[in-house]
Amino acid sequence: MGRLKPWPKFYLPFMLLPFLLLIGFAQAQQSYVDNQQLACEDPTKDNNITRGYLCNGEQRSCQSYITFRSEPPFYNTAVSIAYLLGAEAMQISSLNKLSADVSPITAKSMVVVPVNCSCFSGGNGSYYQHNASYTIKFDGETYFSISNDTYQGLTTCQAMEAQNPINFRELKVGNELTVPLRCACPTVRQTQGGVKYLLSYLVTWGDSISAIAETFGVDEKSLLDANELTEQDLIFPFTPLLVPLSKEPTKIELPQASPPSVPSPQIPTDPVEESKSSKKWVFIGVGIGAGFLLLLGLAGFLFCFCRRQARPIASPPPKPPSQVKPSSDSANYTGNSWSSISSQGVRYAIESLTLYRFEDLGAAAGNFSESNRIKGSVYQGSFQGDAAAVKVIKGDVSSEINLLKKINHTNIIRLSGFCVHEGNTYLVYEFADKGSVSDWLHSNKFQTSFTLSWKQRVQIAYDIADALNYLHNYINPPYVHKNLKTSNILLDVNFRAKIANFGLARTFEDNDEGGLQLTRHVVGTQGYMAPEYIENGVITPKLDVFALGVIILELLSGRQAANAEKNSGGEELLAASIEGVLEGDNVREKLKNFIDPSLRPEYPLDLAFSMAQLAKNCVAHDLNARPSMSEVLVTLSKILSSSLDWDPSDEFQRSTSLGSAR
Ligand SMILES: *[C@@H]1O[C@H](CO)[C@@H](O)[C@H](O)[C@H]1NC(C)=O
Ligand SMILES: *[C@@H]1O[C@H](CO)[C@@H](O)[C@H](O)[C@H]1NC(C)=O
Ligand SMILES: *[C@@H]1O[C@H](CO)[C@@H](O)[C@H](O)[C@H]1NC(C)=O
Ligand SMILES: *[C@@H]1O[C@H](CO)[C@@H](O)[C@H](O)[C@H]1NC(C)=O
Ligand SMILES: *[C@@H]1O[C@H](CO)[C@@H](O)[C@H](O)[C@H]1NC(C)=O
Repeated sequence: MGRLKPWPKFYLPFMLLPFLLLIGFAQAQQSYVDNQQLACEDPTKDNNITRGYLCNGEQRSCQSYITFRSEPPFYNTAVSIAYLLGAEAMQISSLNKLSADVSPITAKSMVVVPVNCSCFSGGNGSYYQHNASYTIKFDGETYFSISNDTYQGLTTCQAMEAQNPINFRELKVGNELTVPLRCACPTVRQTQGGVKYLLSYLVTWGDSISAIAETFGVDEKSLLDANELTEQDLIFPFTPLLVPLSKEPTKIELPQASPPSVPSPQIPTDPVEESKSSKKWVFIGVGIGAGFLLLLGLAGFLFCFCRRQARPIASPPPKPPSQVKPSSDSANYTGNSWSSISSQGVRYAIESLTLYRFEDLGAAAGNFSESNRIKGSVYQGSFQGDAAAVKVIKGDVSSEINLLKKINHTNIIRLSGFCVHEGNTYLVYEFADKGSVSDWLHSNKFQTSFTLSWKQRVQIAYDIADALNYLHNYINPPYVHKNLKTSNILLDVNFRAKIANFGLARTFEDNDEGGLQLTRHVVGTQGYMAPEYIENGVITPKLDVFALGVIILELLSGRQAANAEKNSGGEELLAASIEGVLEGDNVREKLKNFIDPSLRPEYPLDLAFSMAQLAKNCVAHDLNARPSMSEVLVTLSKILSSSLDWDPSDEFQRSTSLGSAR
């Protein structure tokens, strides 16, 4: 199919005639792009036809519809299509009668997507559009490949270039682009004719005006008219046509689309014989089609030649993920995209996750008002009387959802549902009554005489290790959290810890080659990041071991993981300080000074020593010197059981019996 892409050029002579005729049509609605979107380089094709549909409607904004064909592996679920098109997953699944929002949609089947369409004035024109946003994922993506391949022709390279400040030569992975999707609102004349909505339909191989009109149950004449087309005009694959609808569209049932070997555009028909022309149509189609094939080769050659001279717009579409090394966080997409997960994980997901309606979510969270804000972009909500936390995240967080929906561990925050709305994801979590560990250790938020007790602190460390041990060793594939810190450890009403914020979590596979996973994209919080990660981007479970070591030190000392140093202006890392405490003379005194003053003297010094020793091993510079999470858990379980037996009243005798160092 790819080799056929130049064929449209060939039709040029056929297009010209009707075009000339068109000038006579004064009452037209919107101009068909007529394959001009292929010529990204040609300044004469950067005009008010390729840039968008003109704001000539009765209203400046309206409900409209666009179509999209399910495209595995990325864009084949209501949720992933909603992300791509800036639409709402819930609306997509209900309109298209999809059983579940994360279940895959058969490849190439057509999905109708409701969007808000509005008039945008900018540059030299006003165009109707629905904004989506897209972040470049692969090397070699261009405005053309994004508009034609990723968005299937819902936008044009001309419109994208006009609305994005980035020069086409400078596009690179990670750029966030505005994608103006073509949509339109009915004109006065259409409204008078009973048209309520316009749907942007994507023409595909083998389509004809009559077939499209039939699919949507509309009059051929009104379809032609809506696009300033005449019966003689040709239509081209990967271009949108406006379909005027008098009522809301419903699920479109199409025969399984299989690309025909010969493209069969709408062949000029004799208007007189129109009604009984279908047989003849095919006949002419085949005849002319065969003739075209010859010329196609020639045209193709010329076209490619011109292309090469212009710029590599027709560079191959983004490679399927299997060919992309999962070397950065964004490539997390690959192994764990919605689609691949859905085969195994989806049943559980359907049962366990609620897909919320945005309105319901807003109502539950006080319309995201300031008074409902817990912190940052996290809001408190109430769902049928149950408290929940709603976190608002920009963009695609399917990897976090995919992970959390598979997890069932009391020490990992439970995700109960989500909603995708206007490019944001709203994640609904169980509510942690007592806030975060960092609130208790470092802020004055709970300005009371209450402090976390020794037993609570040990329990918290144990709970975290328990959850991490589960992540590292008991799920398949195993995960590294990568972003552990006391502000991500939440406490429930009984002060039991729950790990939250899995936005950076990623899988690691114990591959046989023994290769380490590396990332160039080092993100994290100062003070918690292991040296090999900062320096070389090495990702192993030992990252979490290091961070847990830091958390244990915070629990012991009440100090911050990284503190602005008073004298030198640099930063003092808690992880670096423990060595000095446990080495040399006077360990006992040094340790006592290290321990959080608000605990004193209510803690067993020998157990504190064991904790400190464990933490020190966890933050060892050499990752191989750090214990595994299962070893950490075993040590912590011993300390925990001793702590639970410990009675504060006999502390004095015990602590005095502790030698300088064991
Ligand atoms: C916009 O205006 C500039 C100059 O004013 C012109 O060169 C360009 O062709 C116009 N673009 C469109 C799409 O009309
Ligand atoms: C579209 O552009 C053409 C020429 O570039 C101009 O004559 C025409 O007035 C424009 N139409 C609108 C509605 O701006
Ligand atoms: C469209 O706009 C309406 C009202 O302005 C809003 O309720 C609805 O959620 C919007 N839909 C989408 C998909 O953004
Ligand atoms: C446009 O995209 C389609 C499929 O997404 C592809 O088959 C076609 O070759 C592309 N057109 C060009 C000119 O690259
Ligand atoms: C769409 O994006 C353009 C920038 O390209 C912006 O100016 C415009 O306000 C956006 N429209 C809406 C409705 O968000």
